[in-house]
Amino acid sequence: MRKGLSLYLHIPFCNSKCNYCSFVSVVAKDEVKLRYLDCLKKEIELRGKEFGASYVVTTIYIGGGTPSCLPNGEIKSLLKTIYKSFTVKNDAEITIEINPNSLTKEKINEYLFAGVNRFSLGLQTSNEKLLKVMGRPDSSQNFINAVNSLREQGANNISADLIIGYPTQTISDIKTSLNLLTKLNIPHVSVYMLSVEEKTKLKSQIEEGGLKQLSEDEVVKMMDLVSQTLKFSDYERYEVSNFAKPGFASRHNKVYWQRLNYLGLGVAAHSYLKNCRFANTSDIANYVRFLERGDQVPVCDLKFLTKEEQMEEMVMLSLRTNEGLSLDKFYLEFKVNFAAKNKAKIASFIKSGYLVLNQKTNSICATDKGFMVLNKIISELVF
Ligand SMILES: C[S@@+](CC[C@H](N)C(=O)[O-])C[C@H]1O[C@@H](n2cnc3c(N)ncnc32)[C@H](O)[C@@H]1O
Ligand code: SF4
Repeated sequence: MRKGLSLYLHIPFCNSKCNYCSFVSVVAKDEVKLRYLDCLKKEIELRGKEFGASYVVTTIYIGGGTPSCLPNGEIKSLLKTIYKSFTVKNDAEITIEINPNSLTKEKINEYLFAGVNRFSLGLQTSNEKLLKVMGRPDSSQNFINAVNSLREQGANNISADLIIGYPTQTISDIKTSLNLLTKLNIPHVSVYMLSVEEKTKLKSQIEEGGLKQLSEDEVVKMMDLVSQTLKFSDYERYEVSNFAKPGFASRHNKVYWQRLNYLGLGVAAHSYLKNCRFANTSDIANYVRFLERGDQVPVCDLKFLTKEEQMEEMVMLSLRTNEGLSLDKFYLEFKVNFAAKNKAKIASFIKSGYLVLNQKTNSICATDKGFMVLNKIISELVF
């Protein structure tokens, strides 16, 4: 039987650049976008020849950047190339990232017709003033319109992204954003704690004193509020940043945390296949030059993981999820008794309320309190 494979496609274009964002994405003319897409299709075909016969595709994630800013017809054309190059399961989860202000009825039709069945919308906040501080030319009304249009056309598997901990953001902003999402009954919500990235406008604004970073305490309170509010509204926190109503957890996301095979296509896309991690160049011009010139994919980092690194990854990734670290799976894969090796540390984390032992599944799981200091817990357990 062929193994499952997930595909990630990176679309490095946006209609404008948000102040906080360091993802590989630029504002570009249609001709630049089309030239990139030709290269991406070439990469899909090359990878199809390499892996198409050994794997069956179970999930596809078209992310960015802003895939919905591509000219009409281009998502359909990309997916067509995938269908020709790989076997895609009939029930594959196919997600597209969307900025509400770039969505039209024609685009929704195109995506649905091409097989997209999950829509991830960036709301970030419902506060119009804060959206301006973030440098996002969007509004909560655009988000509401996008959700209504999707539903009118039969698309119900919708996710929304929120950012918390942004300078000037308040608890009351978070309450209002959550109210909007629960009122609209959005079945999946991703909540990201702001990360102030190098070379972003936000970083300069903070360094120059124009904006002040929130304290750790304030951000912890915000995440507590998010977790409690969403749980109260029947969402499950199935991963540290992800909340879903029953049946709406993202299958693609789970592939990352379960260390299953995924192949990244496009500039800056990362892959994990057969215990090897690799990434394409993150330079768009370089990516295009390479693929236009030859028949090779411009991979720049490639690393076969040692057994120790695989063990570390299993701990790091599984503790992010509500299923936690299965001690039986760990033993089965590495022949190491993780609980015995870390007995004192685990006992101490359990005593302080950061971890719990799920006796039914024989797994160690982080609590909400533990999720707030996950990096510290992980570093004590693996290093
Ligand atoms: C690939 S990005 C963008 C998707 C889409 N273009 C949008 O803006 O909605 C996915 C998500 O990452 C989050 N994100 C981006 N930069 C971030 C940062 N510096 N800190 C925290 N979250 C960030 C945002 O919530 C964003 O929606
Ligand atoms: S947050 Fe989204 S829209 Fe804004 S620059 Fe990043 S990828 Fe583009």
